Amino acid sequence: MHRRLIAPGALAVSLLLAIPASAASYSPGAPGIGDPYYPAYGNGGYDVSHYDLRLKYQPQTDELEGTATLLATTTQDLSRFDLDFLLDVSEVRVNGAKASFATSGQHELEITPANPLPKGTPITVVVRYSGVPSTKSAYGFSTWHRTPDGAVAADEPEAAWWWFPSNDHPLDKATYDVSVAVPDGTQAISNGTLQSTSSRLGWTRYNWRSNKPQATYLATLAVGKFDITTGKTSDGVPIINAYSKDLGDNDGAARASVERTGEIVDWLTGYFGPYPFNAVGGYVPNTTTGYALETQTRVFYSPRQFANGSNTSVVVHELTHQWYGDDVSLKGWKDIWINEGFARYAQWLWSEHEGEGTTQELADYVYASHPADDAFWTVKPGDPGPDDQFDIAVYDRGALAVQALRNEVGDDAFFAILKGWPKDHAYGNASVGDFQEYAEQVSGKSLASLFDAWLFQPSKPGAPAAQDASIARSSAKAGTLPRPKSWKKIEATNDLHAE
Ligand code: ARG
Ligand code: ZN
Repeated sequence: MHRRLIAPGALAVSLLLAIPASAASYSPGAPGIGDPYYPAYGNGGYDVSHYDLRLKYQPQTDELEGTATLLATTTQDLSRFDLDFLLDVSEVRVNGAKASFATSGQHELEITPANPLPKGTPITVVVRYSGVPSTKSAYGFSTWHRTPDGAVAADEPEAAWWWFPSNDHPLDKATYDVSVAVPDGTQAISNGTLQSTSSRLGWTRYNWRSNKPQATYLATLAVGKFDITTGKTSDGVPIINAYSKDLGDNDGAARASVERTGEIVDWLTGYFGPYPFNAVGGYVPNTTTGYALETQTRVFYSPRQFANGSNTSVVVHELTHQWYGDDVSLKGWKDIWINEGFARYAQWLWSEHEGEGTTQELADYVYASHPADDAFWTVKPGDPGPDDQFDIAVYDRGALAVQALRNEVGDDAFFAILKGWPKDHAYGNASVGDFQEYAEQVSGKSLASLFDAWLFQPSKPGAPAAQDASIARSSAKAGTLPRPKSWKKIEATNDLHAE
């Protein structure tokens, strides 16, 4: 509480001034955080530091209920603020007092506290809720996946709305305690370390903790019947993996891939520096999805990615995101190249490590296999637009740009940049512009035209640009270079669509 001592003479004046001034300055927080790709995502006026989710989920009926407690700080004088959420809310409290609430837009929960909140105030928001996530949609879609024995929340950029109220944008990262009660015999998997479990009256509660800043889309929940394996990386990071008990014929290939998590973290540490989080691992639920997601510390994999046998390349991709995407998160969704370009490039490094094609061969192949009139080149990885955010060009052209950068600055500077970047922006957010600036600082070179040609032009970089960046030095004609051996495995990381 703040109390000011005011000289009696000033009192009347200050009262007169204070009332209109405060009434004018208290206003509702914006319904979006200001991302031009997704104007309604996230919210304005506050910053969350911690989510405490205490939930209960019944797989038979898809009923989820619980209480979310958010610790936040106001960033403006607030009369009202929003959370992003789709389930049914029964009560909201702000700093202990009942708050009124209403829904608006596609996924806004508008909260009006009993008393307006001055800028810079720590606040505690408690939201009690329940609902059947599979019955909720926004913009006509749902990303909540039901499985025969449970459900999964894992998608990008939208996943949180179906299971917890949040400031749903990577700019607002926070720590998490996720506690979920499920019927005995069923497991609840989330991010970080399993602090404890307890069982009572037919329900088992799993208490998970993710103790480093985490973006909302990187929080995950999986309920189902899993086999759980544990281990440690060479540096002592605890590994927890989980496999649905009904992966059928994909079970062996899934395990033969994901059980190599520790080895791959060790290998990636050589390129990116120390692993940034308190735990690592992955889970393979029995979903029909075709993509994987770099959910922080606990990667989501789709069984279909292992349908043709083991695939360590997809594990390399998702674990690379732990540094590129999770530790250093994007500032805006337009910065997706920092996530996907580098995760794809690490797959190329792994290909070279496995003797299945060098990064240069893969870059030359991508350059040569798309003729200049291919729509591939109309996508700008440096600012692809929301509809092409996960277009193949963001990945393949994005990784080609990384090779062009490497050839321009030389291996010493390149590998210094690769390792220095996660350290320079640890647990924060950064943009493509920030990356260019950092690469220029480390290499001592001006990189504006290189970034422009490879990331920002809606056309194929021509022969002179390719020559300069030592791409396709053989000046191969489109489609004439041999397909590197690793190509099929690398492709399996792409969003596989159901037939
Ligand atoms: N970041 C994910 C990956 O490349 C992309 C997932 C996008 N696909 C989706 N259906 N949400 O690993
Ligand atoms: Zn990715």
